[in-house]
Amino acid sequence: MEIKINSLTAEVFLELYTSVGWEPPCLEQIITALKNSAAAFTAYDKGKPVGMARLIGDGGMSFYIKDFAVLPAYQSKGVGTLIIKAIEEYIVNSLSPGWAVSLELISTKEAVRFYKRMGFEERPCAWDGPGMFKMVRKAQ
Ligand SMILES: CC(C)(COP(=O)(O)OP(=O)(O)OC[C@H]1O[C@@H](n2cnc3c(N)ncnc32)[C@H](O)[C@@H]1OP(=O)(O)O)[C@@H](O)C(=O)NCCC(=O)NCCS
Repeated sequence: MEIKINSLTAEVFLELYTSVGWEPPCLEQIITALKNSAAAFTAYDKGKPVGMARLIGDGGMSFYIKDFAVLPAYQSKGVGTLIIKAIEEYIVNSLSPGWAVSLELISTKEAVRFYKRMGFEERPCAWDGPGMFKMVRKAQ
């Protein structure tokens, strides 16, 4: 298994995204999102793309994981763990000595255990509220 950074195409994104049952945005939105991501991570099994995640962020204080998906046939085989490790390595390599940044995401219900194992803290907690989410639309 090999993780590549910034090799993800919109077509492969679409394939992996829909493979886990998510309704995709239009191709132009995907192309724009990929272009403006801090980095995109793709896992390959002998050249075949089997998993991906996008990292967005400001480079100084905050990063956010989006669109984390592994082909159903490849789930629970360690691909997601490799991608998270690659993301963390990428972030650490981009920071100045002594810096700490937040890495955030909204988990699917099924993936909570996975992320906890990867060191993420759940919200809400005793001192913090839940993550919040809203879609913003432009009329046709
Ligand atoms: C969540 C996901 C990215 C993890 O990648 P992975 O390669 O399966 O993860 P790993 O093999 O490294 O780790 C396995 C863990 O992932 C989780 N996992 C496995 N299959 C899963 C699935 N269909 N959905 C969600 N989480 C899953 C489990 O916690 C599993 O641990 P377990 O085997 O002890 O139960 C992947 O399973 C997936 O694409 N799931 C469907 C889409 C999704 O929920 N994405 C998360 C968006 S926030």
